[in-house]
Amino acid sequence: MTIASGFRKAIADKFDEELRFFRGWIDKPKAVGAIIPTSSITARRMASVVDPDSGGLVLELGPGTGVITKAILDRGVRPKNLISIEYSREFVDRLKADFPGVNFIHGSAFDLGELLAPWEGRSFDSVISAIPMLNFPVADRISLTERLLDLLPLGRPIMQITYGAVSPIPSGRGSYSIERFDFVMRNIPPAHLWIYRRVGNA
Ligand SMILES: C[S@@+](CC[C@H](N)C(=O)[O-])C[C@H]1O[C@@H](n2cnc3c(N)ncnc32)[C@H](O)[C@@H]1O
Repeated sequence: MTIASGFRKAIADKFDEELRFFRGWIDKPKAVGAIIPTSSITARRMASVVDPDSGGLVLELGPGTGVITKAILDRGVRPKNLISIEYSREFVDRLKADFPGVNFIHGSAFDLGELLAPWEGRSFDSVISAIPMLNFPVADRISLTERLLDLLPLGRPIMQITYGAVSPIPSGRGSYSIERFDFVMRNIPPAHLWIYRRVGNA
């Protein structure tokens, strides 16, 4: 492949990814959330908190077109150690073809207990979430956060992307700490990254 044809292929792949995303968005705008797939810069920032040497499973929520899935695998996580829950059947079918070996589950992150039953007793390293948290009631966001933190060792993170300047999980409503991790301008729209962790003695 020449440099020019490689470049054309990269553009075509990116376009294909965005087209897939738009299709999902037209069908279910509220569920898909953002307008354009997450940028690879944002995806890498999100995946940077994963510890591939911990031996724990990584849980991804809302993989969409798989940009963040790729960044998690690029960190050195083995596909069989990544579990990824996606609400849209169309995205799941494509993700399974694109990332063989990853445990993609078609379902809602809010049905966590049931969906993760096959991995009961396994330890988790971190959670990387791109679900459109702001579209769900605050009480549901808090209870999901608490359930996710119950899966993680003390101090290990839930990484959440959002497009609002305020944490989608409010402070003072549970046994978690909130960290403003990053604000990524090179994302459409610019993205805020938040980290939630279980606080000690909780
Ligand atoms: C903002 S998009 C994520 C985009 C993804 N990072 C990308 O670049 O393609 C949100 C994703 O979360 C999925 N989603 C929405 N609600 C969900 C839920 N309750 N459980 C799992 N996935 C959900 C949507 O189908 C969509 O793929």
